[in-house]
Amino acid sequence: MTSLWHPFASMAAVVNSELVIERGKGVFVWDSTGKQYLDATASLWYCQVGHGRTEIVEAMRTQALALEAYHTFGDFANPPALALAKRVAAMSPNPDSKVFLTSGGSDSVDTAAKIARRYFQLTGEPERTVLITRSWAYHGMHGYGTSLAGITGNADGIGPLVPDVVLVPWDSAAAVAEAIDRVGADRIAGFFCEPVIGAGGVRPAPEGYLKETRAMTAEAGALYIADEVITGFCRTGDWFASNRFSLEPDLLTFAKGVTSGYLPAGGVIAAPRVWEPFYAEGAPLFRHGYTYSGHPTVAAAGLANLDIMEREQLSARALHWESKLVEGLDSLMDHPLVGGHRSGVGFLGALVLDPQRLAADPDLPVKAYKAVRARGVISRAIGGDALQISPPLTITDGEFEQMLAGFRRGLDDLT
Ligand SMILES: Cc1ncc(COP(=O)(O)O)c(C=O)c1O
Repeated sequence: MTSLWHPFASMAAVVNSELVIERGKGVFVWDSTGKQYLDATASLWYCQVGHGRTEIVEAMRTQALALEAYHTFGDFANPPALALAKRVAAMSPNPDSKVFLTSGGSDSVDTAAKIARRYFQLTGEPERTVLITRSWAYHGMHGYGTSLAGITGNADGIGPLVPDVVLVPWDSAAAVAEAIDRVGADRIAGFFCEPVIGAGGVRPAPEGYLKETRAMTAEAGALYIADEVITGFCRTGDWFASNRFSLEPDLLTFAKGVTSGYLPAGGVIAAPRVWEPFYAEGAPLFRHGYTYSGHPTVAAAGLANLDIMEREQLSARALHWESKLVEGLDSLMDHPLVGGHRSGVGFLGALVLDPQRLAADPDLPVKAYKAVRARGVISRAIGGDALQISPPLTITDGEFEQMLAGFRRGLDDLT
């Protein structure tokens, strides 16, 4: 019996049936029996540049031989952390931003939530504590992230959470306005928004939603916090969806694609409005940070990964695949198990199962991804009704066709 306690797993089901992934190259991975799979989820949405890029591994090795690890608390820094922060700040839609480095997306969300509340303490509005979040939102699994969960169930069963969180329907800007009115504009600290909801089932924001909510948040004097853990680093056709949609968020959380997952990393980009009071002469110490914030080997992996993204123009690739994915998913619409798809912003999509079949068998998404996996394509059940599609951005035309064929064959096996 395994000693590995898996995340997001029913261990009774997993305990004697683990899928042990041993190797990866490009869009493919191989399990311990030698079976090949096309990685249609880029692991957990992060492997933008594909698996097995020796360039990143070499950069990690070179850095580790010089200085494998050192912290960045207080006045400590190291060259790769400085370079990565500078490079990511320059990608921000807001000029003159600063970057707080973390070890992942959940760290970044909790960091952003604490920065938001702390910001208002520093600027003389301590009553601004309320954070607005959306149904279907996934903001990680730390304390704040769990409290901000919009996926039913992700915040259940553990008792009291962070207070002062308001949940609104994900697709209604009017609901955000109504929440601000109800709570009082002067009590709102921030609005958390995934420009495309990811783990909650790939739900691009409705037309006009991002701009409208951005304007309302600004009018309320609150902070706009774009959670770009999935949408960042080329996935939505630019460095960030915020650049593409001219969002200029006050805070932007990132992770995953910053290293394509070669080592765990994340961070928060803060616009000048936010960082200035923290940097002011005499400002109190911000008692926050993580042991591995700015870890040099991690940062070196990030820098090498960004080199590949620039050289191979992966934002342009994502835009190329954006429309191809819509067409590809359209081509599966004739299948009796398929009810639709959610896609159209960047290279991520959800293949939605037929609602009647789903009503008759709520386990259908799990059965469907397992059938597709048996046909050599890794997907995942998301959003309660759909299968995730977000392959590495480096996928070729032939591999893309192979992926669609795997979905069709897997679904055929279920009918
Ligand atoms: C939008 C978003 N925020 C935060 C997180 C949490 O990131 P991590 O699992 O790296 O802690 C995720 C993870 O999928 C995410 O999709």
